[in-house]
Amino acid sequence: MDQILVRGGRPLSGTIPIAGAKNACLTLMPATLLSEEPLTLTNAPRLSDIATMTQLLASLGAEVASLQSGQVLALSSHAITNHTADYDIVRKMRASILVLGPMLAREGHAVVSLPGGCAIGARPVDLHLKALEAMGAELDLRDGYVHAKASGGLKGAVVAFPFVSVGATENALMAATLAKGTTVLKNAAREPEIVDLAQCLRKMGAHIEGEGTSTITIEGVDRLGGATHPVVTDRIELGTYMLAPAICGGEVELLGGRLNLVGAFVAKLDEAGIDVSETPRGLKVARRNGRVNAVNVVTEPFPGFPTDLQAQMMALLCTADGVSVLEERIFENRFMHAPELTRMGAKIDVHGGTATVTGVERLRGAPVMATDLRASVSLILAGLAAEGETVVSRVYHLDRGYERVEEKLRAVGADIERVQA
Ligand code: EPZ
Repeated sequence: MDQILVRGGRPLSGTIPIAGAKNACLTLMPATLLSEEPLTLTNAPRLSDIATMTQLLASLGAEVASLQSGQVLALSSHAITNHTADYDIVRKMRASILVLGPMLAREGHAVVSLPGGCAIGARPVDLHLKALEAMGAELDLRDGYVHAKASGGLKGAVVAFPFVSVGATENALMAATLAKGTTVLKNAAREPEIVDLAQCLRKMGAHIEGEGTSTITIEGVDRLGGATHPVVTDRIELGTYMLAPAICGGEVELLGGRLNLVGAFVAKLDEAGIDVSETPRGLKVARRNGRVNAVNVVTEPFPGFPTDLQAQMMALLCTADGVSVLEERIFENRFMHAPELTRMGAKIDVHGGTATVTGVERLRGAPVMATDLRASVSLILAGLAAEGETVVSRVYHLDRGYERVEEKLRAVGADIERVQA
């Protein structure tokens, strides 16, 4: 298994291109199941999760061609020849559950494996299922699979989510585009990835209003057509790389970055003493002084501070001047990066969903273990600032969500390489 070696202490300078959003692409791709016409996605990220979604869609009978070295995905599901999403694929990637709504809406039946939990939490899909039941689906959970039927098709309904769920909003939104009548999603997720999905579905002929707000209204149509759609910039990759110059000094321009993707995050960076400015090509980021200020962070659904940037922010705060408190309100077990950062000399106390970080002058390089996607990149960031060498193992977690991380960081001056372990 590959490892990534980082030798810290070098300030960064230059530009980093930001790719299309993994979490937008993973919901845009299943949208192909809603239509017999071709769907072309441009600005697609080249990630192992995209390959997994490709494998899943192909197993259902869709065709997915990866063009221009993966930056363009040409999808078409002229006919769905298999209506079962197998556990052996679904267990590798939870976003697989997003084939349920589209397949049920178009075909009237679907069998999808329940995704297992994952490192950061149990991550049930009850909200996805309740939304589809409200739209008339009959669901039977057995042998670890959801057996879903909608004889006569789905019907429009009012779906009030008890709390915000990105995936459940996406599944319900896609299903509602072909339901008979009007669907209203209340307490819907407002993430940019939802807005991106709605804009793509609208190009395919869907009638949608309100995306980006807590209430989305969809008028069902009989069929959808094809579309060509650019995947929105990845705000989590953007935020991750904004923290690189913040943590080890220098100035970096993130190509494709826009402030409206990272509002709450930028406000926190400003509080910590990091300057962010918009340029014609993206965002420029530099640390104001030699050491960042301690800040408190609470993760919330968009437009709040993203849970997917909590681990990376903790890496920055490990060397802040003072004590920071991070409250993780979205997932029940998302501090697994803390013990690894502690191996590098960080002072972190975790109690339930709250982590208290007492800043230290300098971290020290050490062998550390990646546990989940965002935790692994927080260890890379910590390594950029640490004295000596950090060896990150199990980097396959990283490759799920970050294109060529060592190449992008080396291009701005980091001493980083990938080795075969
Ligand atoms: C999406 O996951 C993202 N994944 C996650 O990114 C992200 O952390 C999360 O949204 C929150 O922003 C993709 O888009 C592929 P949720 P999702 O439904 O949809 C609970 C990454 O690192 N919940 O908004 O699964 C759930 O357990 C990944 O790129 C239920 O209880 O997140 C969690 O505690 C990690 N029942 C909370 O709600 C449900 O039916 C929010 O989950 C659904 C969710």
